[in-house]
Amino acid sequence: MPDLSALNTRFGIPGRVIFSEGPGGLATVEVNDPCAHALLALQGAHLLDWTPAGAEPVIWLSPAAKFARGKAIRGGTPICWPWFGPHPTETTYPAHGFARTACWEVLSVECPADGGTRLEFRLIPEESVHRWWPHATRLEFHILVGSELQLTLLTKNIGTAPVAVGQALHTYFAVSDVCKVRLVGLEGLSYLDKVHGGSVKLQHGPVTFHEEIDRIYRDSVQDCIIVDPGLKRRLRIAKTGSRSTVVWNPWIQKSAKMDDFVESGYLGMVCVETANAADDIVTIEPGAEHRLGVVYSVEPFA
Ligand code: BG6
Repeated sequence: MPDLSALNTRFGIPGRVIFSEGPGGLATVEVNDPCAHALLALQGAHLLDWTPAGAEPVIWLSPAAKFARGKAIRGGTPICWPWFGPHPTETTYPAHGFARTACWEVLSVECPADGGTRLEFRLIPEESVHRWWPHATRLEFHILVGSELQLTLLTKNIGTAPVAVGQALHTYFAVSDVCKVRLVGLEGLSYLDKVHGGSVKLQHGPVTFHEEIDRIYRDSVQDCIIVDPGLKRRLRIAKTGSRSTVVWNPWIQKSAKMDDFVESGYLGMVCVETANAADDIVTIEPGAEHRLGVVYSVEPFA
């Protein structure tokens, strides 16, 4: 557990940015920006909530999520890094990499003059992950909390050889009823259908949800919008540094096998992940950096 009192002294802003002990004894930082509420766990720099003022929560967190050191949290925005999904060659390495369960430190907290509350985090380098990732990299996560939410994952190659990184901002979005929402912005793209052995398919029309979905959309650079008639809103997902979008809902059977989903929990969420996955892995040259960025905003239902 980081020293919460030291964090509050150095980075806290009374009433606005507060470090405290959260569920499972994990350190959290709560942000009460005038335009939104947000909550993050320092483990994984894991966003747990973003609720713009006067709006319903945008981020879904499983009611059965487990909060424990070194365990992935079901919901929010897990940071998948430095590989997405299973490791490409090593089956014993952790799925989605190790950043989501690692300890992160706070680099800065500020309130920019043009609005919002900005926090920057850095993955704390640990000797224990060297066996999985022997490369010299620096990973930062920047978040600007306001009426929009801006997330940036910044990988710097501080070594002498190129590194290949797969990653995702694996956000779980809260929806009224996944059967009634549609996801637009992926029409006409091909995708790898992981539910059906990775076969390549073509998206016709908006994505709708009536079964398990686990897809990597390719050449996806346009905004995606979750259109939710039940909540009377459209959630816009605008990204940079990413050519792949992952769409995931485990549906009935798969979620029933997970101890961090409640019954019917899958109906209230959908993951739309800003990614560098499959053939969109990024190679970062020595001294260079890559920014994976996304902006979420809530628009009225039209
Ligand atoms: C998605 C993957 O990104 O994450 C799925 O495409 C995976 O295949 C899902 O099941 C959840 O992963 P995890 O490791 O958090 O259970």
